[in-house]
Amino acid sequence: MNKKVAVLPGDGIGPEVIEETKKVLHAIATKYNHTFEYTEADVGAIAIDRHGDPLPDSTLEICKSSDALLFGAIGDPKYDNDPNAPVRPEQGLLKLRKELNLFANLRPILAFDAILHLSPLKEDRIKGSDFIIYRELTGGIYFGDKKEDNGEGVASDLLIYHKEEIRRIARLAFEAAKKRRGKMTLVDKANVLASSRLWRKEVQQLANEYPEVTLDFLFVDNAAMQIILRPSQFDVLLTSNMFGDIISDEASVISGSLGLSPSASIGDQYAMFEPIHGSYPQAKGKNIANPMATILSGAMMLEHWGLMNEAEKVKEAINRALDENIVTEDLNPATPHKTSEVGSFLSEYILNH
Ligand code: IPM
Ligand code: MN
Repeated sequence: MNKKVAVLPGDGIGPEVIEETKKVLHAIATKYNHTFEYTEADVGAIAIDRHGDPLPDSTLEICKSSDALLFGAIGDPKYDNDPNAPVRPEQGLLKLRKELNLFANLRPILAFDAILHLSPLKEDRIKGSDFIIYRELTGGIYFGDKKEDNGEGVASDLLIYHKEEIRRIARLAFEAAKKRRGKMTLVDKANVLASSRLWRKEVQQLANEYPEVTLDFLFVDNAAMQIILRPSQFDVLLTSNMFGDIISDEASVISGSLGLSPSASIGDQYAMFEPIHGSYPQAKGKNIANPMATILSGAMMLEHWGLMNEAEKVKEAINRALDENIVTEDLNPATPHKTSEVGSFLSEYILNH
């Protein structure tokens, strides 16, 4: 198979975790006779520095002419505490999602057996957890009209959803639930928000077309608690943009590290694969960041292309690294391995098994 990949390393640890992902994909390409061609492009703070724009047109062009996008991380602290910054790195990512219509963000959460003991949560609670969050990604409060404070101390963000935006992601979530354990939970705040009540109405209506899927509902505050109390009860969680952002960081604690949580952002035409973590600027250039979330995102890219054995092989390699404790300091502070050592171990494993 021949595939063109737009590679967007972005900021902070992005370039390092992307480098290791390319290493692993190279091993897969060699072993299974594929050709993956990479074209790099700037996004985020680095793109502001180089082009004055967090998502230059040239980057968007490269993305649109590729089979998939592989994304590192975005964000730089020099923008975080400056409310007057005229442009922000995050705008690059948000615009990319919007322009490519990547409306569904899939965030699988797995408790890895080899590192159950590393989670701050009790082992017996998280054992067997295996669920996936379907987060709406191009609508809601992230993209509604904004009014910045004009000096009078008032600002607002509009939370708005159209039923089409709800139905297209709900369909994907129902299809996923059908193939998994047949359970879907809509996470919302329907006791307070009108937009959540629209979500319930549309999702309930669609449920009639999926009799094999059991649908239930949870308010987001309760969901936040249940994810920590009894995560194994969940199969597919469907939710809006901001609720999904929040509960997915929370849920990643189940896996033992934010550095282990991959994601896929899917639209009708394009697909982007990105770790759920941020740019971790304190670790930039130190070769200490966990590359596994990005590598597992690479595995989701392989699955997206129907390369199931290849994706399985990557996951097998990850499991072996976890078993053998070939992990970065987030998972093993006492005797950590470097980012590049983890990538090399994984690619060697793939080539030899
Ligand atoms: C994520 C990130 C982004 C988001 C930021 C960087 C804009 O937190 O992908 O979860 O909020 O969607
Ligand atoms: Mn987030």
